[in-house]
Amino acid sequence: MIPACPLRSLPRGEAFRLDAEPPIAVFHTEDGEIYAIDDTCTHQDASLADGWLEGCEVECPLHASKFDLRTGQVDAPPAKLPVRTHRVVIEDDTIFVVPSDAPANLPPGVAARCQGAA
Ligand code: FES
Repeated sequence: MIPACPLRSLPRGEAFRLDAEPPIAVFHTEDGEIYAIDDTCTHQDASLADGWLEGCEVECPLHASKFDLRTGQVDAPPAKLPVRTHRVVIEDDTIFVVPSDAPANLPPGVAARCQGAA
């Protein structure tokens, strides 16, 4: 379990980029839900934490793919592969991320960089 940030420091409608390998984006929706997904778009190297949050979807800031934060599924192209989701736990006002064991769907350049760092 990785501590991300205090819940009170992540207002509704905002995102937090957790500096993991690969990075993780944590979102606080307008409805008060917290979701965590891989930060890197599956299409190219763009940070989804810098994207636009609408409901339970985030829109990539680079080419406007949309991902469902609950499932990681692609709701709008050009991305084809889902983004990996992570479990979130909130304890003592702190948001924790439980990193998924599933393989990440990273774009080729980013995947090579992460393997080099491993
Ligand atoms: S980098 Fe996200 S849609 Fe292209």
